[in-house]
Amino acid sequence: MTRVLSCIQPTGDVHLGNYLGALRNWVAGQHEKDVFHGIVDLHALTITDAPGVVGETTVDLAAWLFAIGLDPQVATVFVQSHVAEHSQLAWIMECTVSYGELSRMTQFKDKSAKREGDFISAGLFTYPALMAADILLYDAQEVPVGDDQRQHVEITRDVAIRFNSRFGDTFVIPKAVMPAAGARVMDLQDPTSKMSKSAESDAGLVRMSDDPKVVAKKFKRAVTDSESEVRYDRAAKPGVSNLLDILSACTGESPETLATRYTQYGPLKTDTGDAVVALLEPIQRRHRELLDDRGELTRLLRVGAERAGTVAAATLQRAYDAIGLLPR
Ligand code: TYM
Repeated sequence: MTRVLSCIQPTGDVHLGNYLGALRNWVAGQHEKDVFHGIVDLHALTITDAPGVVGETTVDLAAWLFAIGLDPQVATVFVQSHVAEHSQLAWIMECTVSYGELSRMTQFKDKSAKREGDFISAGLFTYPALMAADILLYDAQEVPVGDDQRQHVEITRDVAIRFNSRFGDTFVIPKAVMPAAGARVMDLQDPTSKMSKSAESDAGLVRMSDDPKVVAKKFKRAVTDSESEVRYDRAAKPGVSNLLDILSACTGESPETLATRYTQYGPLKTDTGDAVVALLEPIQRRHRELLDDRGELTRLLRVGAERAGTVAAATLQRAYDAIGLLPR
C-alpha cells in the first residue's frame, strides 16, 4: 500500500490555500493509501517564542484536520513533539545536508528577509533538515503539498539519496504530489503573492474560520485589473486567474472552461465566494463540535502518536544501524 505523509504548522489560522493546496488531498487518498499527517509544532518554534501559544494552536489545528474529514480509524494524525524521533533524525539530516543547499531555499530567503532586524533563529535556516526527517521517518512515497513546499521535498530527495549512497539503502525516496487546481492559491489583495498566514493585509487572506459574510466580502473586494475581459492568464491577469483557479478547485471544471462563462468580473467574484462558502460551512460546523470535546481530541492525538512512534522508531534504528553507531 502506498505510504503518504504530509504535515502542517500550527502557526496562526488555517486558510483556503492550505485547504485547497494540501489538506483536501490528504483526505482524498486516505482509504486507498496508508496516510500519516503531522501537526508540526517544533517547526512552528522557528518563528514563535511566546509561551503557551503553540499548544493552543495545535489543538485547534487538530480539530480542523478531523473536521475536513480525516478519519482517525485509517489516518494517523499526530503531533510532531509527541514523537521524539523527529528531533533525533533531524540532527542526522543536518549532518547530511550542506550549508550551500540550505542557503538556496527560497522559503528561508523570504522569511529571513521579512524578519530583517529581528531575531532570525538557526532553526529557520536548518528547517528543511527537520522536514526531511518528518518525511523519511515514515518511508513515505508520496508527499501531498502545495507548490511552495516543492523545493523542500526536492531537498529531502537529495538528502535521502546522499544518505543511501553513503551508508547503504535506508530511506525510501519520496515525491511531491500536487493538486491539478489550487496548488498555489494567491492573496486576494495581492495576487502575485501566495495566500499566507503572515499576509500583510487581512482582506486578502481567507481563513477556514471566517464567517460566510466575511468570505463573501473578501471575494467581492478581490483585486482584479482595469480591463474587463475574463481570461485565464496567470502572468497577465493574476487576480482574475486566481479567482478562476479557486472556482476550478471548488467545482472540478477547468479554469479555461469557467472563463468562457463570464463576461464581467462581478459575477465571477460572487460565484467564487459562494462556492467557497458552500465548501467551508459544513467543515466549520464540525470544527466547532470537535473543539467542544477536547478530551476526545487529546485521546485521538494519543492514538496517533502511538502509531506514528512505532513506525518512526523502527526507521530511526535502521538509520543508526546503517551509520554504525555503537548499540547500547
Ligand atoms: P505550511 O504549514 O505552511 O502549509 C501546509 C500546507 O499548505 C500548503 N499551502 C498552500 N497551498 C496552496 N496555496 C497556498 N497559498 C498555500 N499556502 C500553504 C503548503 O504547501 C503545505 O502543503 N514546511 C511545511 C510543513 C511541513 C511538511 C513536512 C509538509 C513540515 N514537515 C513534511 C510536508 C511534509 C509548511 O510550512 O507548510
